[in-house]
Amino acid sequence: MPQLAQRMGRAKPSAIMLVAEKARALKAQGRDVISFSIGVPNFLPGEHVYAAARAALEADSGQYGSNRGADALLDAFLGHLECNGLAGYTRRNLCVGIGAKQVLYNLAEALLDPGDTIAFATPYWTTYVDIAEFVDAKVLRLECPPERDYKLMPEQLDAALAQKPKVFLFNNPSNPTGMVYHRDEIAALADVLVRHPDTWIILDDIYNRLVFDDIGYHNVLHFRPELRDRTIVVDSISKTYGMPGWRVGFAAAPESVAQALVTLNSNHITSVPEVVAAAAAAALNGPQDVPTQKCAEFSAKRDVVLAALADIPGVRCPRPEGAFYVFPDISVAFGRRHGPSGATIANDVDFCSTLLESKAVACVPGSAFGEPRALRISYTCDDAPLAEGLRRIQAFFAELD
Ligand SMILES: Cc1ncc(COP(=O)(O)O)c(C=O)c1O
Repeated sequence: MPQLAQRMGRAKPSAIMLVAEKARALKAQGRDVISFSIGVPNFLPGEHVYAAARAALEADSGQYGSNRGADALLDAFLGHLECNGLAGYTRRNLCVGIGAKQVLYNLAEALLDPGDTIAFATPYWTTYVDIAEFVDAKVLRLECPPERDYKLMPEQLDAALAQKPKVFLFNNPSNPTGMVYHRDEIAALADVLVRHPDTWIILDDIYNRLVFDDIGYHNVLHFRPELRDRTIVVDSISKTYGMPGWRVGFAAAPESVAQALVTLNSNHITSVPEVVAAAAAAALNGPQDVPTQKCAEFSAKRDVVLAALADIPGVRCPRPEGAFYVFPDISVAFGRRHGPSGATIANDVDFCSTLLESKAVACVPGSAFGEPRALRISYTCDDAPLAEGLRRIQAFFAELD
């Protein structure tokens, strides 16, 4: 019997998708499930995006497109970069992909040989580990516990980079914690990065338009432009424009890296479909009122979630300032018994599965993100289910012996 390739032994299905599947199955059985699991923005883009898609459909060439990305889409991304304080790139610095996820996979293939090390803060977005394992790279986890607001400290980064990882991957605003680095924090990290010239820097900044509390979006390149020749900025339309299913992501990189991504695209995907590219360009070029309004709504929802969690004795929650996630430390529940179900909560996975079975609320266990004391709440649903889901979580805690 032929066997699957060895790498499939390392590849795991996404933990987030597993929770989402379980929630869907319960829903299909008629349970009133409230899902705080999957990180979807839960809104649709503006009408101008659909109009652009329809116009592209009318004019469809039916052909393969550019491996780098359609010129109009690249130009729209250049404009978006400029709005983010990142002027001076040209089309030759860019490459599109089927979502930021595929861009990150391409970057791993382009930058990491088997046995190379990739460093990133923990908690991390689950896919970072999956990608590293796929290309057989080692992971250097930089622990950022809730006691430190899940944030990376400059001296910690300095010590990690002294080990000369091939790649440092930095995510801001963060999935799963929702934390946002402030101006002075980014400036301090940028100073450290300059001192370690042998490491590529990947900035996964796909939540850059979802920053609350007037903190603003800051990027190490704003402070240290000399980092640009080894830094790759990754972005996406998924979260900002409510377009996760349209699957468009980008990289802005040194020309050699962008060209490597183009070569990989030519082998993997060929191109992003024409209609999708037109819709993505319209989202980037068009009015920004939908993302602006959603950012304000998410910030208000963040307050609602934090207020509900603050009422639960022993639950600690650093205050997120962006994206749409809250990542409370729920370890106060560990070792306790859930009265009505009789289940013992030994860890975050028990917590989430008992919560799902008894209260029909789906959250993702923190261990999926490298922090087993926590769980992730993705709070993009409407206000009524949000309030009801939080009420059920409070009730669940109250039922622990
Ligand atoms: C931090 C982070 N990076 C990248 C992605 C991938 O986004 P895309 O939908 O563009 O593939 C996600 C999606 O959840 C994410 O949270």
